[in-house]
Amino acid sequence: MLLPKDIIQDGHPTLRLISENVTVPLSRKDKDKGKEMLKYLEMSLDEKTSEKYQMTPGVGLAAPQIGISKRMFACFFFDGKEDYQFVIYNPVIKEKSKEMIYLKTGEGCLSVPGKSGHVLRHKKLVVEGYIYNNLDKSLDYKEITLTDYAAIVFQHEYDHLDGILFTDKITEDYEKYEAIA
Ligand code: NI
Repeated sequence: MLLPKDIIQDGHPTLRLISENVTVPLSRKDKDKGKEMLKYLEMSLDEKTSEKYQMTPGVGLAAPQIGISKRMFACFFFDGKEDYQFVIYNPVIKEKSKEMIYLKTGEGCLSVPGKSGHVLRHKKLVVEGYIYNNLDKSLDYKEITLTDYAAIVFQHEYDHLDGILFTDKITEDYEKYEAIA
């Protein structure tokens, strides 16, 4: 089980590395690690367990944040329309919209505690990768389209794989773009 102590913080060199592709077919170890990352997010969003383990609620967790320099991350959220609970391995961003948006409340990160800020993100993405869907337990190589909140979370997590933190991208010049609640 992952615990808050397993999450590395800004300043740790691993957060700044370009992560390596995960080997395919996926190993048992990488599959299990992905599920552990999903479980961490689920527990962090549950009042009882987050209090018990003193977890900050999180909707995304990338492998580098637990010290593993591999291209994989977990997402766990409801965007108002759809539940997203997945791990993506070796994600590729195939298309991104020109239109930019930002998260109204500002972004935060489990590896940068206590900090938030506005970041411009693409409104729509077409991505592909090996996706483990926690809702139906399927694991397939596929293409998905993400918009608005889901696209923001995806881009934040994807950046971790390239050693980029949201704090690198904070801007004060966001108000002319669309705010996503
Ligand atoms: Ni983050």
